[in-house]
Amino acid sequence: MSKFAVYPGSFDPITKGHLDIIERSLAIFDRVQVLVVHNPSKQAFFTIDERIEMIVKALGERSIDGQVSVASLSEGLLIDYSKKVGADTLIKGFRTGVDIEYELPMARVNRDLSGIETVFLPSDPANTHISSSLVKQVANLGGDISKYVPQSVIEAFRGKK
Ligand code: PNS
Repeated sequence: MSKFAVYPGSFDPITKGHLDIIERSLAIFDRVQVLVVHNPSKQAFFTIDERIEMIVKALGERSIDGQVSVASLSEGLLIDYSKKVGADTLIKGFRTGVDIEYELPMARVNRDLSGIETVFLPSDPANTHISSSLVKQVANLGGDISKYVPQSVIEAFRGKK
């Protein structure tokens, strides 16, 4: 059976940590979809369309755009969307135990309500300190974010000025 996984998140913006999780997930799943989800508890900096554009370009930069699709979800439950598109697994990356504390209840509720499992991939140690929120802070205060994000994100920040 073909294994299709959805990798959901805010991706505001995508980082090299996210891209590492996507690349590694391709060794486990036949198809992966990056799903940009509107998270009402977070104040977004980039629009959903801007986030999708940065991700598509970043996948192209790494030549994995053929194996990975990109979509968005602005309302409704993640599990309902996943069932609708035929995904059997959710992917989540975690950097430290703090991420696990936040993710574990969601993984349990998602499985409880739908049977859809969440696979957790540990971040590469080189990426443990990278977060979208720190990237936004550094970029918006004029700092260099090139270590942390793909070229498409650097260009998107320039376009916002
Ligand atoms: O990158 P984030 O903001 O930490 O991602 C959290 C996200 C968007 C994956 C989570 O909030 C989510 O799944 N939202 C969709 C709505 C939903 O299904 N909520 C119930 C979760 S148990």
